[in-house]
Amino acid sequence: MGLFGRKKTTVGLDIGSGLIKVAVIDHGRSEPELTKVAIAPLLADAIVEGEIMDPGIVADAVRAALSAAGIKNKPVVTAVGGRDVIIKKIQIDRVKEQQARELIRWEAEQHVPFDMESVELDFQILDPDDDGLEMSVLLVAAKRDLVEGKLRLLTDAEVTPSVVDVDAFALHNAFEVNYPDAMSGVVCLVNIGHEVTNINIMDDGIPLLTRDIAVGTRRFREDLQRERGLSAEEADGLLQGYDRSPHLQTVTETRGEEIAVGIERAAAFLASSSRSSSKLKAAYTCGGGARVPGLNEALAARLRLPVEMANPLQRLRVRDGAFDSLVIDDVAPLLMLPIGLALRQVA
Ligand SMILES: Nc1ncnc2c1ncn2[C@@H]1O[C@H](COP(=O)(O)OP(=O)(O)OP(=O)(O)O)[C@@H](O)[C@H]1O
Ligand SMILES: [Mg+2]
Repeated sequence: MGLFGRKKTTVGLDIGSGLIKVAVIDHGRSEPELTKVAIAPLLADAIVEGEIMDPGIVADAVRAALSAAGIKNKPVVTAVGGRDVIIKKIQIDRVKEQQARELIRWEAEQHVPFDMESVELDFQILDPDDDGLEMSVLLVAAKRDLVEGKLRLLTDAEVTPSVVDVDAFALHNAFEVNYPDAMSGVVCLVNIGHEVTNINIMDDGIPLLTRDIAVGTRRFREDLQRERGLSAEEADGLLQGYDRSPHLQTVTETRGEEIAVGIERAAAFLASSSRSSSKLKAAYTCGGGARVPGLNEALAARLRLPVEMANPLQRLRVRDGAFDSLVIDDVAPLLMLPIGLALRQVA
């Protein structure tokens, strides 16, 4: 680095089951700027249902993506998610941060269905400036195995981790920067990936609930192959295109139904388990599946809600050339998570 060589950039690394994505953000200016994006495909079945089946292949793809982004020996921010991560808003007696740490461990035992010996806990006080007798705390518990597995993978890929974040929080961070208006009321951010759809419900901007369902573009492609007799390439072409081909109608309806039911269940669970009585007011989609022509419309019709594809570049400054030869509109919706990771300022 040059004369003013302070570490001001953050590298976000999203290890998806279809694509490894890297986003680099420069925090050295008045507002964050996306300086580089790289995407590397992952061979089929290297990651299945969130589980890393072939660490060697994944490590190679991680190296390829980082190298395409011009990253060498720089710590990266990654995240864990899925059913081994639990997020819960709880009320506890108002205490100082240090005391809270002890109290949380005790509270977590009541709220987290994992063995306390095998989890990593973290928390955030949601109303630090209030002075009521109780405070709201967002509790996060992740199974230690999951975090350690991620760290091992990074070690294999010769990558130094700086922070292991939680998927739902990273998605939320990128969403918040770009959609400040969505930070009031109850809204849902739906990340439709290759294998998994993450449903994230936020209440007044607080990410209260996250659920995964096993639907993604891989299923869409398999449906098109089986039901419409298309080749994998033809199916991908339609799923990643811009036209609402008649081939897509059944699959967007049936898979859309599945995703809609997941959203409704998550919203109903939240309503029954929290004091909030507000109803879901909108859904935003991201991830590769958000691009499937007609899917957002199918979701909107089924949910009777406004459904919009969320763009992580809506308000984010982008440096010229950050995308190289990638077509920005084609990949932007896939970058919500890696951008959210890179938005973290790491000391
Ligand atoms: N421009 C694009 N380039 C490549 N794939 C795309 C593109 N647009 C949509 N897709 C589809 O999106 C999928 C990848 O989406 P995404 O990156 O959100 O998933 P992932 O993070 O790899 O998967 P998961 O989160 O389920 O592990 C691809 O498998 C492909 O079907
Ligand atoms: Mg993903």
